[in-house]
Amino acid sequence: MTLPLHKDSILLAPSILAADQSALGDGVSLAKAAGVNWLHLDIMDGHFVPNITFGPDVVKTLRKKSDLFFDVHLMLKNPDKHYESFINAGADLITIHVEPNYPIRETIKAIKEKGICVGIALNPETDVDTVLPFLELVDLVLVMTVHPGFGGQEFMASCLDKVRILKEKQVEAALSFRIEVDGGVNLENAGSCINAGANTLVCGTSFYQSSDASAFHEEILSL
Ligand code: DX5
Ligand code: ZN
Repeated sequence: MTLPLHKDSILLAPSILAADQSALGDGVSLAKAAGVNWLHLDIMDGHFVPNITFGPDVVKTLRKKSDLFFDVHLMLKNPDKHYESFINAGADLITIHVEPNYPIRETIKAIKEKGICVGIALNPETDVDTVLPFLELVDLVLVMTVHPGFGGQEFMASCLDKVRILKEKQVEAALSFRIEVDGGVNLENAGSCINAGANTLVCGTSFYQSSDASAFHEEILSL
């Protein structure tokens, strides 16, 4: 699968983690009604990150209710053991982290071979050099702008230096991966993310706590 949008188009990916967890279907509907195309789904295992969220069965249930593009962010110690169940559940894009010890290149290739998109993610303390060997293979690079594990944290502007470097590398090598920022993104800092080179903005708390989700989406697109 190729990504359904031009690499430079700005898009908002609401993170369902910030929706009411007892009514995830309503959170998906709210995102759809706001006119977004993507939904960000955070999968946490209690090992790679200190929190636990939901698994493939929940993704599968949401898949039945939605035609949104499912941007599945695996925060797992062993993503190579689990990516397949999320593909079977209906993921359109699977993003895996660069930090854990597993065969990253093989896992990226295996995900692509299944016909969906693949991303590589890096934490705030991880050097941008660690993802450079994978840029030619991926559809998206996810730059964490908080320490992964929880929604509602404060945006770390220092992480935008990595976005700038990735954008430079992308242009230099004429590559087309999207650049996604994830964590603490809101209407105050989204402009600086875009200026740095990000085109895919994950918004959890800021989106689900906004009084008007459609207006929020429009405002992001107008930046
Ligand atoms: C954090 C997750 C984020 C988070 C974003 O580990 O990867 O996707 O849900 O939520 P906010 O926008 O509230 O920081
Ligand atoms: Zn995420």
